[in-house]
Amino acid sequence: MCGIVGMIGQLGTKDMVLKGLETLEYRGYDSAGIALHTGEEVVVYREKGRIADLKQHVPTQADATLGIGHTRWATHGRPSKRNSHPHQDSTGRLTIVHNGVIENEKQIRHEYLSDITFVSDTDTEVIVHLLSKLLAKSGNMSAALIELQTILHGSYALAIIDREQPEVLYAVKNKSPLLIGKGEGANYLGSDALAMIEQTKHFYELNDGEFALLTKQSVQIFSKTGSLVDRETYEAQIDANDLAKGPFKHYMMKEMHEQPAVIRRITKAYLTDENETRIEDAILTALRQAKRLFILAAGTSYHAGLVGKQYFETMAQIPTEVHIASEFVYNMPFIPEGSFFIFISQSGETADSRAALVAIRERGFEALTITNVPGSTLSREANYTLLLHAGPEIAVASTKAYTAQLTVLALTAAAIKQYAIDLKLELARVATAMEHICEMSEQFEMLAQNYFAHGQHAFYIGRHVDYFVALEAALKLKEISYIHTEGFAAGELKHGTIALIEEGTPVIGLISQQAIANHTRSNLQEVSARGAHTATVVFESLAQSGDTIIIDDVHTLLAPLVMVVPVQFLAYYAAYIRDCDIDKPRNLAKSVTVE
Ligand code: AGP
Repeated sequence: MCGIVGMIGQLGTKDMVLKGLETLEYRGYDSAGIALHTGEEVVVYREKGRIADLKQHVPTQADATLGIGHTRWATHGRPSKRNSHPHQDSTGRLTIVHNGVIENEKQIRHEYLSDITFVSDTDTEVIVHLLSKLLAKSGNMSAALIELQTILHGSYALAIIDREQPEVLYAVKNKSPLLIGKGEGANYLGSDALAMIEQTKHFYELNDGEFALLTKQSVQIFSKTGSLVDRETYEAQIDANDLAKGPFKHYMMKEMHEQPAVIRRITKAYLTDENETRIEDAILTALRQAKRLFILAAGTSYHAGLVGKQYFETMAQIPTEVHIASEFVYNMPFIPEGSFFIFISQSGETADSRAALVAIRERGFEALTITNVPGSTLSREANYTLLLHAGPEIAVASTKAYTAQLTVLALTAAAIKQYAIDLKLELARVATAMEHICEMSEQFEMLAQNYFAHGQHAFYIGRHVDYFVALEAALKLKEISYIHTEGFAAGELKHGTIALIEEGTPVIGLISQQAIANHTRSNLQEVSARGAHTATVVFESLAQSGDTIIIDDVHTLLAPLVMVVPVQFLAYYAAYIRDCDIDKPRNLAKSVTVE
């Protein structure tokens, strides 16, 4: 999960590439670099750390009409200047940036590059030396790129500069995301549309194995075997001000506050004024015919899938399994005939989920992808897509995408057999409840100070759907505040894990379901009796004196949509108090495009 960007055709390339990298920094921020073709030579600037650190080392007067850039999430080789991209071949003729993982890089070093002195530990340097050899042999870059792809195994999005061809920018795509931006008098490439959105709204998709030649005036796309591909551009449905933080200090806070508006937008997108579903018949037919549903996802999206199971089994009576995508691929359960798959992915680029999609499609099963990114890999490779309409989610910690996923799952499950719920009304209530929670910021900041300013351990506990929210609450807290947090089934604690409870251990109980409210309260008593510092997040109708965070009731099935908002805020303020990088937490990236 790195970010790459490139431009060819006009001066201003240096600034465009640096700005493009800033929008891609959520994809990885261990190191960054750019390369500029000045006409005679290719100048490379690389630094460990953020784009801001790199910019200190790029002369303000530097510019070019051809350039590429890279922001890195380290896979092969630690974050360092020597491992940062761009990388060059031994002669300096070829300069390359890469997003992905070359699985056979050791074999290639051994078979093709034993005479090469490597200056980094990266698999990317293997690519550029191999390409240099293939180019020397064929004398033609297109032929070399075709042969290169017969040797590389793995995922790669490449941008390549050939010093001898200052009027061409090369792009190669396999499994990792890469878009070509069509401009006026210039053309662009990037890991996603956001990187180029200030230059153009018109993009070409590249399919796996394809490569492209970009010049000032033209874009040519070729198949893996070198035949010219005729492809139209599409218009991206985002605009540059989606990237602005507005009055917020962090994207995460902005995106938490956007949740009510996102719920209302999704409701409009999926329901007519007469409360009829707008989901296309083909999708509903496929779901109605399914004997069993499999929901596959990673991280927060997996947590959304757990709630989704509740919806499909309650509202549509379809047996549903939920699996972590990276486990499913390599430990596949029995999949009965008539099964149907649902992939949930904010980015639509998660390699673990994509690998699972490839595996089930090879076995003849159909799939629906629920994603926030139209044209993403998981969208293009599934049979059907349902969009989240959440707008770009920049903060690494997913918030509005999670509640958007739950909303789309509820609307879909209810549409299968016209379940008796007025979702237009109930989701309006959810949006209003979310707005009230957003007004409680000060209380959340105080609670975070009280529970999470110090200490290295915490628990969220719940039963029923509150357990699924507890898992998501724990992920939010640990991924941005670095507090080791577990989401736990409240009734399960006493079967061993309660041994971890010490004086002052924060344990937050989530209570939205009337049938299990007292059980969870008993479990809180059990840990409190052992010194835990307990708190509750509870529906108003179930509140008791002494409760900590009391929120508006909503329809019991939609409880996770509102129960999650206070714990998102608690995670935000915990990270803020502990001076962590809220939008770009250490070791993480927004789009995990490696397995
Ligand atoms: C969520 O806060 C994390 N950033 C992460 O778990 C994320 O949900 C996961 O990587 C899946 O991403 P996706 O939804 O884009 O597939």
